[in-house]
Order: sequence, then C-alpha cells, then structure tokens
Amino acid sequence: MTAAQARAIAELSPRYGVQIADGATDLCALFGNRAPCHLEIGCGNGDYIISLAQANPDNNYLGIEVHRPGVGSLMRRAAAAGLRNLRILNRDAMEALAIQIPVASVDHIYVFFPDPWPKKRHHKRRLLQPSFIASLRDHLRANGRLFIATDWQGYADHIAEVMAQVGGLVNLAAPSAYAPRPAWRPPTRYERRGGQLGHVVRDFVYGRA
Ligand SMILES: C[S@@+](CC[C@H](N)C(=O)[O-])C[C@H]1O[C@@H](n2cnc3c(N)ncnc32)[C@H](O)[C@@H]1O
Repeated sequence: MTAAQARAIAELSPRYGVQIADGATDLCALFGNRAPCHLEIGCGNGDYIISLAQANPDNNYLGIEVHRPGVGSLMRRAAAAGLRNLRILNRDAMEALAIQIPVASVDHIYVFFPDPWPKKRHHKRRLLQPSFIASLRDHLRANGRLFIATDWQGYADHIAEVMAQVGGLVNLAAPSAYAPRPAWRPPTRYERRGGQLGHVVRDFVYGRA
C-alpha cells in the first residue's frame, strides 16, 4: 500500500467507504435515495465503476473489492471526479453477499476480468463457481442483469458450463452464445493486456428469469 493509498482510505472512507457489518446494509440508506443500484464485484482500482458512475449519475454504484490498496486508489479517483453515487466495500465478495448485501436488491451486477487462475490445479480458486453464481442471481431484482467478461478462453468455457448448471438466469444473447461487447465498457488494463497476449475477450449477459 502506498502512502497516498493509505491516506486516501483514512480521509475518504467516511465519504466512500461502507462499514463491514454482521448483518444486511440498507442500500437506500447508504446512498440516501432509492435509485437503481449497480454492483461491481472485484472492481480493482475502479476503471469500470468510475466510468459507469460518471456516465450514469441517476444510478447508484457499489463496488466490492478485497484488495485494500486498490480501494485506496479507487477512493482517490472517486474524490477527484467528485462522485456522489459511488460507495466501496472492502470485503471478500462471497462473504459480503452472504452477510451484508440484501437479496433481490441490485439491478445490475458486473464481474469484469475476474482472476483467471489458468493452471488446472488452481481452477477451484476461480470466483465464478455454481454457488457464487447462484448467490449473484439471488441478489438481482426481477429483470436484473448479470454482465461478465473474461479474456481467458478456458475461463469462458468454465463460465458457460457453470451457467448451464445454475437455473434462474437466461442468456440474453442466445442460448450458449457470447454477447457483443457492451459499448459502455471502456477498455481497461486487463483487457489491453489480454489483447497483447492475443486473447479474445468473451462477454456474457444474463437476465434474472
Ligand atoms: C484481474 S482484477 C480485475 C479488476 C477489474 N474488474 C478490471 O477489470 O479492471 C480482479 C480483481 O478482483 C478482486 N477479487 C478477487 N477475488 C475477490 C473476492 N473474493 N472478493 C472481492 N474482490 C475480489 C481482485 O483483488 C482484483 O482486484
């Protein structure tokens, strides 16, 4: 953690942080309004969530990120952009969903470029496993949407397999099809690095049935 990241967390947590709680956080109270809530899992230093929050001031954006230095950078960038519709929870996403985020409370969920764990012996560490996908589904409101992108073909194959096992989510592109790249998803560090490695990015969009 750099000194600037540590300072950002100390100074900006009251404005952008979400306190870790043993029970459900009221999202309307958190943002002070009843606007639609969009959730990014593993938001890193915020390339996506900052751009989405800037472009859509009438939505609320909640980022969950386990890596504390990234949270410091994200808070610093949020303050520089003067954002009022963004909050960040520095917690493991599985724990956060199980304990803190109310079910059926979120309109969109984004999981962009999750850690790919390409080695076979590490596949079990991948975030997008059936129980986690089922939890994502349960946190969506009726007609909510789940957006996923990865540049690792092996992970894309894994996601397609897992999705086929979990009910209650409909592939909005077409059964077994990848979605077109959403125009609003800006290219970030991870996508660019994938491109340099010759990887093709796969997008998925699912709707809560
Ligand atoms: C490869 S990075 C992608 C970051 C960002 N989504 C992007 O595309 O620029 C994956 C991020 O997910 C975070 N992450 C991994 N497992 C997590 C978990 N269980 N809960 C919350 N964040 C997690 C990592 O710390 C990292 O910041």
